[in-house]
Amino acid sequence: MADIKRTPLGVPGLDDMLEGGLLTGSVALIQGAPGTGKTTLGTQFLYQGASKADEAGLLVTFEQFPHTLYRDALTHGWNLRELEQEGKLRVVFTSPQVFLSSLQSPISPISSAMRDMAVKRVVIDSVSQFRVLSHNPVELRSYHNHLINGLRREGVTSLLVSEDSGRTLCGVTRGAWHSSSIRSSCCATSR
Ligand SMILES: Nc1ncnc2c1ncn2[C@@H]1O[C@H](COP(=O)(O)OP(=O)(O)OP(=O)(O)O)[C@@H](O)[C@H]1O
Ligand SMILES: [Mg+2]
Repeated sequence: MADIKRTPLGVPGLDDMLEGGLLTGSVALIQGAPGTGKTTLGTQFLYQGASKADEAGLLVTFEQFPHTLYRDALTHGWNLRELEQEGKLRVVFTSPQVFLSSLQSPISPISSAMRDMAVKRVVIDSVSQFRVLSHNPVELRSYHNHLINGLRREGVTSLLVSEDSGRTLCGVTRGAWHSSSIRSSCCATSR
């Protein structure tokens, strides 16, 4: 439909499957077992946006030091440092606690950076780390909702990376992240 805006991931076959890409302004979940290319897909999404579509990106990682991300991206020909120097990309290595509270506060460095750079694409790698916030599933669910609502409020198109060591893909048994609000945009990676 003409009035539905899509944000391409930059992966031709996948964008075709998604009828042009992710719904602009939506929050999507990308899930897969370790080593199946989740971080690479997220990085490609941001690289394509910043280098080809003039859409600044924010990569929030709870898992990998930025220098290893830069190195891995370079093996695909994506120079993230250069994009950071040009103000088109920001890589932030932080914790789920700090990121969540930053999202709530308009004057936090992360919120300010998103505003100043007019960030349009966000990748969170990985939301599986949110498990450190609480053992209580109800409480955990409310943290998930804080994150999703915070990203929606910013109007950015977001990709949440999630580890999946189970058998089902995008099934209800995967638990808390599969709230009805993001299940429609759930992709799975596999080898
Ligand atoms: N489409 C692809 N084609 C070829 N190699 C790929 C592709 N996507 C990722 N890789 C390679 O697979 C390896 C694992 O990728 P990546 O780190 O993105 O996986 P991951 O799912 O994020 O892993 P982890 O769960 O450990 O964080 C990397 O060496 C990466 O370069
Ligand atoms: Mg990864």
